[in-house]
This record gives sequence, structure tokens and C-alpha cells, in this order.
Amino acid sequence: MIELKNNEEIKKIAESGRMVAAVLKKLKEMAQPGLASQVLEDTARKMCKNFGARPAFLGYRGYSAAVCVSINSEVVHGFPSKKRIFREGDIVSLDFGVEYGGYYADAALTVAIGKVSRTARKLMEATEQSLYKGIEKATAGLRLYDISAAVQKHAESCGFSVVRDFVGHGVGRKLHEDPMVPNYGRAGTGLPLEKGMVLAIEPMINEKGYDVKVLDDDWTVVTADGGLSAHYEHTVAITESGPKILTMG
Ligand code: MF3
Ligand code: CO
Repeated sequence: MIELKNNEEIKKIAESGRMVAAVLKKLKEMAQPGLASQVLEDTARKMCKNFGARPAFLGYRGYSAAVCVSINSEVVHGFPSKKRIFREGDIVSLDFGVEYGGYYADAALTVAIGKVSRTARKLMEATEQSLYKGIEKATAGLRLYDISAAVQKHAESCGFSVVRDFVGHGVGRKLHEDPMVPNYGRAGTGLPLEKGMVLAIEPMINEKGYDVKVLDDDWTVVTADGGLSAHYEHTVAITESGPKILTMG
């Protein structure tokens, strides 16, 4: 069941979304060679406290951190740690969400640590662009898989592959709501998009093959072939004036 949001609710999700954007902006600025990923976790929690907001991932299905920090071949759901030190050339995906006043927003981005390889840079750019191609289709009157197909088409045209096993989702009153928003699919199919839907669109794009596996910690998702992976996400409302990004800052 898809819960449509009215304008008041969209404003509240946007309020959470601004907090998410502020935290990700700060974490991105801090990420540099020599920094332990745990420092980002500590910063995110402190900022949440100051906002009076709750980190949405902490405790979610037993996840034990506020921020997912996924390095290089890690796709999503990596854990911050005092022992993981960023090194020049790493690409680091940061995924973060908050709940404030009962409303959730969720976003992610990938940051380059110092100078990264050409391929890493291309992968990051293609993934971010594929997110924006998808967002453009978050328009009343189109279909859900128009979003998916736009993401897939762009990522694959850049020579990369789209993770199948994890998808985007509705968001707002809960972190994960219906519908699932895959990053692959056939244009012109899927449920009709309507004003009031709020979606977390989140392409996870791999350098090589799309297969992934979950590590023994039961959370960290890595590429099966060891290739790089990038992840970008925004919370987006479908409005009468088109897609509205709620996690932009
Ligand atoms: N952006 C991810 C998602 O929407 C983050 C979830 S991490 C979890 O699925 F720990 F909360 F599961
Ligand atoms: Co999400």
C-alpha cells in the first residue's frame, strides 16, 4: 500500500531532508586521507543531537550505526570503525537518514579521497548522473519503471552495471515504505506515478558485474568480483510542478 503525502507532510519530510543534507555535506568535507571512518559516525550523531533528530538507521533491524560507510568494493551498509582509515584513492559511499517529528528522509553520496583513478571518477559521475536521470522521471503521469529504466540506461551506457539485489523505496512516515524502486526495469511499465508519492531513489552502480554478496557481519554488501561500487540517493517528492528533491539542503 502506497501512502500519499499531502503538502504539510512533504514540508516535514523536507525538514528532515535538510538535516540529512547538512550532515552529508559536513561528512563529505571531513573525508580525507588519514581519517578514521568512525569520526564521521561521531560527527553525524553529534549533529543529530543538536538538531533534536534521531539517526534513522541506528537500531534499524539491528544495524548498529547512524551512517553507512562503504569503501571501494563495498556497495552499501558498511560499518564505520576506528580501524578503517581512509586512504588516498579510496571512494567512500556515505548513506544517512534521520527521523524528525515523525518524518524520515534518506540520502547518500560517494566521495573521493584525494586523487582517485579515472575509472573511480567515471563511476562516481555516472552514478550521480543516473540518479538525476531517474529523478527527472519522478513525474505524475509517468510510470514507476520509467525511473528505473532511466537510471539503468544511463549507467549501462557508461559501461557500468546496476545492482539488482538492493533497491530504492518509498519514504516518509517510515524509513522504508512501498513501493520498491529498482534501478533497472522497462520504461512505460509499473505503477502510475502520482502527486504525493515520496521516493528514495538510490542507484548502486558497479564498475564490473552487478552481483553482490553479504559479508559475515550480515550487513556489509560487497561486489562479488571485487570491482568498485558507487551509491547516490535523494528523497524526492512527486508534486504538481514536477520532482522536488527534499534532501538538497
Ligand atoms: N539508504 C539505505 C536504505 O534505504 C540505508 C539503510 S541502512 C539500514 O535502505 F541500516 F538502515 F538498514
Ligand atoms: Co534508502
